[in-house]
Amino acid sequence: MTHSVLFVCLGNICRSPMAEGAMRAVGGRRGMDILVDSAGTGSWHVGNPPDARAQAAALANGVDISAQRARQIAVPDFDRFAHIVAMDCSVLADLDAIRPAATPGRLSLFLDHVTGREGQDVADPYYGDEDGFATAWADVTAGAEALMELLRRG
Ligand code: 4NP
Repeated sequence: MTHSVLFVCLGNICRSPMAEGAMRAVGGRRGMDILVDSAGTGSWHVGNPPDARAQAAALANGVDISAQRARQIAVPDFDRFAHIVAMDCSVLADLDAIRPAATPGRLSLFLDHVTGREGQDVADPYYGDEDGFATAWADVTAGAEALMELLRRG
């Protein structure tokens, strides 16, 4: 069975594209076949590439996310993906509110998968400086490694 994961943040131009890139990189290193995608709860940036600062943070770690384009989450995503992973608690609450009643997709908070980081948000770096993007990259890498372990076991 192909594993499938959808990462979701607010704009789909910072955190979830970085999570998608980190997950692809970890999956590639481990030779795992995974369907990975990302989306936003908001529609402001639909069709746009990731924020230049997110692209730079990923590229500094050898991961090119420039080909990604933002999209908004849609109801069929809850059927298409086995795991739907929110980058922060407010996104998780929004997803919980729009999810259809009987969907197979498991909804979770990204950092709940990382031991010692349970309940924490990947801080939104959009209104900050480059340091916030480096921190977000470290967070999404830790989350991707942990999530990959979960998929490998399950
Ligand atoms: P993201 O960051 O949710 O990590 O993509 C944001 C990007 C854009 C906005 C908010 C957060 N915005 O309000 O436009």
